Amino acid sequence: MLHADPIHRSLLVSTRNAHKVEEIREILGSRFLISDLSGFPGFPEVEETGSTFHENAAIKALAASARFEGWVIADDSGLEVDALNGAPGVRSARFSGESATDASNRTLLLEKLLSVRGQARSARFRCVIALARDGKVLANFSGSVEGVIIPQEKGAGGFGYDSLFVPEGYCETFAQLGADIKNTLSHRARALSELKNWPHWDRP
Ligand code: IMP
Repeated sequence: MLHADPIHRSLLVSTRNAHKVEEIREILGSRFLISDLSGFPGFPEVEETGSTFHENAAIKALAASARFEGWVIADDSGLEVDALNGAPGVRSARFSGESATDASNRTLLLEKLLSVRGQARSARFRCVIALARDGKVLANFSGSVEGVIIPQEKGAGGFGYDSLFVPEGYCETFAQLGADIKNTLSHRARALSELKNWPHWDRP
């Protein structure tokens, strides 16, 4: 007997970052119906005051869960560069200042690594996803991917630092590899794989 695709679970992603939402939708597939805050222009910008990915993911998930019913997730992610003692880390989005853009952040990163060569340019992307419901964080899922920062941008796909990051085992940046490959091995894919396998989805 054929079974229909089992559960369609609605998840609100506490973000307006269209790139993150697109990746989350692609990675989670058809079992999850994904919406995000772009449909709620009146929802205030959430200040990320935490000093860890876990804290900021919880802040964003709880802010949305206080206002909306049902399952909410928040992704806090960033790039840790070993030669910069883990920077930009939780400040990845605002690395080059409060009016930072992805392009200005990449320019600053390249400047800071000008004198750093070869394997000393090692880095990783990290992602923490907080899952909340009824104003409480119920679980956290995390993932990371190791790689190096190359000296000049390559590739036009992706977002953020994708055009500077070559994941371990590959010769091209995330921006060159494209979504199909990135979404199988990225920090976000690894965290979301844990989320898919969370054993308590069926709890009432
Ligand atoms: P958040 O909104 O505070 O989680 O900031 C995440 C920032 O980290 C983004 O604005 C990017 O600069 C960077 N980042 C996170 N994930 C990725 C990714 O998958 N590719 C490239 N940059 C990323």
